[in-house]
Formats: sequence, C-alpha cells, structure tokens
Amino acid sequence: MRSIFFRNGVVYALDSSKLPYRESWLRLTNARQVASAIRKMQIRGAPLIGVAAAYGLALEALRYRGSDVEKLRNRVLKASEELRLARPTGRNLGWAIDRCLQAVREEETVSGLRRRLLEEANSIADEDVETNLKIARNGLELVRDGDRILTHCNTGGLGTVEYGTALGIIRLAWEKGRRISVLATETRPLLQGARLTAWELKKYGVPFKLICDSMAGYVMSRGMVDKVLVGADRILVTGHVANKIGTLTLAVLAKHYNVPFYVAAPLSTFDLTTKPEDIPIEERDSVEVTHFLSRLITVEGVEVINPAFDITPPELISGIVTEKGVIQPPYETNIPKAFSEKGR
Ligand code: MRU
Repeated sequence: MRSIFFRNGVVYALDSSKLPYRESWLRLTNARQVASAIRKMQIRGAPLIGVAAAYGLALEALRYRGSDVEKLRNRVLKASEELRLARPTGRNLGWAIDRCLQAVREEETVSGLRRRLLEEANSIADEDVETNLKIARNGLELVRDGDRILTHCNTGGLGTVEYGTALGIIRLAWEKGRRISVLATETRPLLQGARLTAWELKKYGVPFKLICDSMAGYVMSRGMVDKVLVGADRILVTGHVANKIGTLTLAVLAKHYNVPFYVAAPLSTFDLTTKPEDIPIEERDSVEVTHFLSRLITVEGVEVINPAFDITPPELISGIVTEKGVIQPPYETNIPKAFSEKGR
C-alpha cells in the first residue's frame, strides 16, 4: 500500500499522526495544506516529505486557472518557499523541490508546466519505491539468520511512499526467511517507534519487542542486540548523519558495546556541500515534551529543549546502505564514488 498518491486532482496521504488508532487519509488540494501536513508531522519521514512537497507544487500548478506562464511560475516558486521551510533538517525536501523547479524553468506553456510538475511528482514517488527495494536488497548482505536488530524511529512504508529504508531491509530479510527479531525504540517525544514501527512490524508479522529509548544501554550491555539499523534525514560527504533525536545516543552505545551500527538511506538524502556545523536542526514545540496525550506531565511553565534530530559522526557508523550498495568508510572518499558510479 502506498502512503501517498494522486487521484483526480487530489493528493491522498495516510495521516501518520492518527496511527495506530485510526487509518485516516488526508485529502490535500493545495501546497499550503501539504506544507501544514508536513509541519504537523501528519506526513513525515525524509523521503515521504520530499514526495509530498513535489505533489504540493503539482497541486499549485493544477489549481491555476489563468493563461500566463510567468504568473504560474511565480506562484509555484512562492509555494516552494513555504514548502522548503516546513521541516528544515531532511535533505529530501530540498532535493525534490529543486528537481521540480528545474522542470518549472524548462517548460514554456501553462499546460506543459502543469503536466510536467505532475509527471515529476509521480516519477519521484515511483522512484522512491524502486529505490527502497534496491536498498532492501543491498542491505540483505548485512543481515544474518537469527539477528536481533535494534531500530529507531520509523523508517518503513510510513516514512516513504512504500517499503521503507532501514525497515525495508528488515522486512525483506524476514520475507526471505531469515529468522530475525527486532527491538524497536519507542522514540520520544512523538513515539514514531511505538506508534508507527510497531504498527508496521505487526502487520508484516516480524517478531519484535518495544523498548523505551532509555533501555538501549541495558539491552546492548546484556548482549541482546546484534546490530543497529536506522534511517537518515541528511547525510554529509564526511559521513555525518542527521537522524531522529536519540540516534547519536544509540551510536555511542553501539560503539561501546561493539555492536555494528548501520544507516540506510537513498542518495536523495545525501548533501555533498553542507558542513556538519551548518546542518539546520529543527527545534519543535515544547508541548511535545511537556505533554503526553494532551496532558501536562511536568510542572507548569517548565523550560524545554526539543531538537527533532541529532548528528552522528562518521567514526560511529559501520556502513551506509544505499540503492548503489553499502558504502563503507572512509566516507569522504567512498560517498562521492557512489555518486559517480553507474547504477547497479
Ligand atoms: O521526525 P520524523 O518522524 O520525520 O523523523 C524521521 C526519521 O528520523 C527517519 O529516520 C528518517 O526520516 C528516514 S524515514 C525513511
């Protein structure tokens, strides 16, 4: 099942914020609604955010009733600015928008531009599914029969169009008959692990146990984890990986307990120009930390920090699974190579 699709002028997206209680679908008809759904994390996961933004631009073009191509271009450009700011850390958002804006520059008629933006959004969505399947196949080489894999946040079909990245590897390994099991971290503050990864793993029939984030040290110290497998929101040429808050803690623990730590992501998550200190880390509303199911769980007026992501340095990462294969250290040499190699 695809978590986003276009039908008759409307983009339908599965509302992640309602899971696991309800499978409800958002009905989106303009870029502003798409940007709002991304900000509220009804649509989340770096690759899915990129796809949604591309559909947002297509919707904006389809809504235009005039005949002036310049006006249409400006309208799409304006929408792209709002979408770009919706969530700053993930690279796929900017990557997808830049790709659509290239199409905007190339098309010279209103009808051409409308058609092209929808084609581009559909292609980005289709490629996401193909890419994830390649990542899953490439990641299989890392998974042994009997492996107990710890994963963080949600990197499955709910954070992508379909199948997922790190969770896609887990799913394929299970489908191929490897008797693996998963430890899923709940992923505070918004519980993507407890709400979404658990929902997916249950659906696929993969054996798993849910743990609080703070139990990661305990399970690793007791030899209960054979490898850690997580996704990414932005990967730099240096091998620095921005991912869901808590990833860095897991990587430090994994190093300490000699547990291999792998990252899985498509090349559209890579950013070959930004420096680690310049990665924009999204700071979210303090209510996400102070409240649980809409109820205050701390003292009134408490000060909070709520960064949505952290950055794991390359020396803690054993390998990065992409659609081009598993990239090994040294990353600064091997990441550019993955971009220059022809597809496998
Ligand atoms: O804040 P989220 O839920 O959008 O964060 C998601 C993650 O950190 C994922 O690991 C990443 O986006 C990859 S999803 C395939």
